[in-house]
Parts: sequence; C-alpha cells; structure tokens
Amino acid sequence: MLTTHTIPAIRNALGELRNTGLKIGYVPTMGALHEGHISLIRKAMELSDAVIVSIFVNPTQFGPDEDFSTYPRPLESDLDICKTHGVHAVFHPPVEELYDGDEQIRISAGELSSRLCGKTRPGHFDGVLQVVNKFFNIIQPDVAVFGQKDIQQLLLIRQMVTGFRMNIDILMAPTQREPDGLAISSRNQYLSGAERNAAPLLYRALKELEELIRPGEINMDRVTAPLKKKLEQKGLKIDYISCVEPPHLHQISRIEKGKNYILAGAVFAGQTRLIDNLIIYT
Ligand code: PAJ
Repeated sequence: MLTTHTIPAIRNALGELRNTGLKIGYVPTMGALHEGHISLIRKAMELSDAVIVSIFVNPTQFGPDEDFSTYPRPLESDLDICKTHGVHAVFHPPVEELYDGDEQIRISAGELSSRLCGKTRPGHFDGVLQVVNKFFNIIQPDVAVFGQKDIQQLLLIRQMVTGFRMNIDILMAPTQREPDGLAISSRNQYLSGAERNAAPLLYRALKELEELIRPGEINMDRVTAPLKKKLEQKGLKIDYISCVEPPHLHQISRIEKGKNYILAGAVFAGQTRLIDNLIIYT
C-alpha cells in the first residue's frame, strides 16, 4: 500500500493507475477508522479497481469550541486497517499541503447548509465542501463513497458535484451500528459510561417516530414532543428531531404517500454531539 503526504506523489501514483484504464474509487475520512469507514472502503472496492483513502482532520470544518485539537489521530492503526482491507493508497497530507495560510477563495454551501446540523454548526459545511473540493481536484476519482450517517453532508456534496459539473459518482453506504443500534462514530469514544448507555436512545426514538409517520397532515412538534421528553429524561439534550424531505431537507407539514423522507436527529450526550437518521418510504 502506498502512503503519501504530498500532492505530487499522490498525483503521480494516480496518473499511472488512470493510464492503465483503472477505475478509481475514493473514500474521504478524518481517520480514527472504524466499521463505518471500513464499510465505505468495501463498497468502493466493489465499484472500482483501486481504492484511495484520505486521512485528514480538516481544520476548516471545526467550530472554535469544537474538538479539532483533541480529535483522535491513531495513524498507525488506521494505516493497518487500510492495508488489511486492500486499499491501494492512503493520502495523509499535513494542513499546509492543502491550505494556504490566507485562504481567499471559499465555497459557500448555501441554503441546504442552514438546516438541521448547519443551525448548530455555522460554517461547518462550508469547510467540508472546501476540503472535499480540494480532494476531488487532487484525486479525480471516478466514484466517491460517503456514509448515510452524515446524510446532510452527502447531499451537499452531491449538490457541489452537480453544480461544479464534476464527473464523479457519489455513492451512499448505509449507517453501520453497534449491536444496540448506536451509529458507530469516532466520537463515541468520548462518551462516559452513563452517556454511552443513553446514546442508543436516539436511534430508538427515530424508529418510534417511523411508526408514527403516516400519510396526511402532520404536526411534527406534537408528534416529536413525547419522544424528545423521553430522551431528555435520560439526560440527552435535544438539538433537533425532524422529518425532512430530500434532497433539500425542507421541514414538512404533510406526508404524501409513495415518497421518501428523512427522519433525522441530533442530541448532546454531555459535550458529545450524536447524529443519526433513517430514510423512510411512505
Ligand atoms: P469522517 O467523520 O471520518 O467520516 C468519513 C466518512 O465515513 C463519511 O462519509 C461518513 O458519513 C462515514 N461514516 C462515519 N460513520 C459511519 C457509520 N457509522 N456508518 C457508515 N458510514 C459512516 O465525514 C467526514 O469524516 C468529513 O466530513 C470528510 C468528508 C472526510 C471531510 O473532511
């Protein structure tokens, strides 16, 4: 497996692959790899001939009070995981390789980024698009795989790819969960014992909400109030529990028959923000 830190090195390696006609699959990550990331690598393997993984904790997508400096960076075990799963190359650049000190040209993620997670994390999705755009330009993959767990991120990346006329297929891989339903996340390791016990309730609340969604008028505040109360009683602080319509993630007040909706939630367990979602078909 090739491990590179510089843009010229990864470009060279990929140029050679492309010249031999191989299809390039790409999985962007911030490292601290777990079963969720591994499932994306497997998916990329199915869809392409050579898989590239980037490992980069992207400073521009963290708010000033967020966990950029403490975000886990277990590089050696990440590289082992990539090797074990047949990854062709890992691109692991230092910050200066991707960012000029005075970054003037930026991407504005627009309206979609003001909803759901964007409300509590201003600027977060601008930073995500900024870095994914750079990676797409450097790697120029045929296909890139993203997780459903971060569905708003995935939908924004699709918007960017369409809007900027990039020739990249964006694939969605399902959320990988712990046996008790908790969506696997690098941030789960921050949870105390009590927080970890309460954390799967978010998924359970979304499953309960799924049972309550029926075609017709719906007052989401009324429907979600008892679910939110249950979560709060277990010490979780609600950011949002919503039913929104893809791809623009508008709040809805009427459920139509025969359509897809996203049930999405975010809660704080102590300082740790947990997110999850279900895609339902009515
Ligand atoms: P990171 O949080 O490391 O996630 C990398 C990819 O793994 C994302 O596509 C995410 O949705 C997916 N993923 C995380 N947990 C998952 C799970 N339990 N099941 C399935 N997929 C899961 O998302 C980012 O990094 C960054 O924002 C990035 C796109 C790399 C840009 O910096």
